[in-house]
Amino acid sequence: MLVCSCNYITDKEIRDVIVELLDQDCWQLIVPAKVYHAMSKRGRCCGCFPNVVDIIIKTTEEYHAQRHSTTADVIDYMSRLKQFHEENRRADIERRQQRHRAA
Ligand code: FES
Repeated sequence: MLVCSCNYITDKEIRDVIVELLDQDCWQLIVPAKVYHAMSKRGRCCGCFPNVVDIIIKTTEEYHAQRHSTTADVIDYMSRLKQFHEENRRADIERRQQRHRAA
C-alpha cells in the first residue's frame, strides 16, 4: 500500500527500514525523518507522517514481540515512543495553528 505519495514509498518499504534500524539498536527512538533519511528521501508535504508514526509503533511492537524482549523493557520503551510521537504531533498542530493565525 502506498503511504507516501510524494516519494512513492510503500508500507512494506517503511517496515523494512524500521526493522533494519531496530536491528542496529532495538531501543532507539525512531521518527519518520529518520526512516526517510535511511531511504535517502525526505518529507515534502509531510502529510504521510502520522501514518508513518502508526507504522513505526506497530512494527516496533511486533519486532519486540518476536524477539521476546522482557515485558518491562518493552512497556517502558513503547510508552516513551508513544509519548515522544504524541508530543511531536501536538507541537506540529500548534505550529500549524500559529501559522494559520499569522496568515
Ligand atoms: S505524502 Fe509523504 S511527504 Fe508528502
